Amino acid sequence: MSNNPQDPLLLDHEYDGIRELDNKLPRWWVWLFCITIAFAAVYLVYYHVLKIGPLSAGEYAAEMQAGEQLKASAMGKFEAGIPGLHPSSDPVILENGRQTYAKFCAPCHRADGGGLVGPNLTDDYWIHGSNYCDTVTVIWNGVPAKGMITWKATLKPDEIQAVASYIYTLRGASLATPGKPPENQAPVKAAPSGFE
Ligand code: HEC
Repeated sequence: MSNNPQDPLLLDHEYDGIRELDNKLPRWWVWLFCITIAFAAVYLVYYHVLKIGPLSAGEYAAEMQAGEQLKASAMGKFEAGIPGLHPSSDPVILENGRQTYAKFCAPCHRADGGGLVGPNLTDDYWIHGSNYCDTVTVIWNGVPAKGMITWKATLKPDEIQAVASYIYTLRGASLATPGKPPENQAPVKAAPSGFE
């Protein structure tokens, strides 16, 4: 290729004083190069032609699905493991809740839950949500602006759990005197299973 008398490997061209030797490429380099070509061919056939392996998007979807399953099982354990997230059906707790209700809540929500100053707790209309967590949250924090007291200062967490569980037993109760009609609440079916 070269007709340079000094060095048969030296090529003719020169760029800014830089010359090129037409050395043979090292064996290992050529092999590596061939391997990458072979790899690319196998890759193409495996992933894009035969579609045996999942592409990145597929891997992502599978990972997400596995993650969702993990989350769902963790949430299942969480729900089952923490009694506070479900209304209790323990008669002792419900009786404690009934006493708390009679003492602190009945003045505003009526002894049977039909509602006076506070809304009716026996119907399917809830201002702050119908599940157990909503009920606990509204009792815990109250709605001071609307006249519902913040009970976390007065009641202990287990008393709040008890009274919230008791309120669940009032749902759908048939009242001797009609309860307070729904105000501007959205109708929601009571969800006695609690956390959702
Ligand atoms: C001083 C009156 C008053 C007392 C006492 C009171 N509440 Fe209330 N409660 C209210 C009012 C008013 C609301 C409506 C708040 C609103 O409009 O956002 C309410 C709302 C609620 C709600 C939400 C209802 C819904 O539709 O989402 C629950 C649950 C509740 N009270 C439970 C209790 C419990 C349990 C007690 C006793 C520990 C209690 N309340 C004591 C006045 C009272």
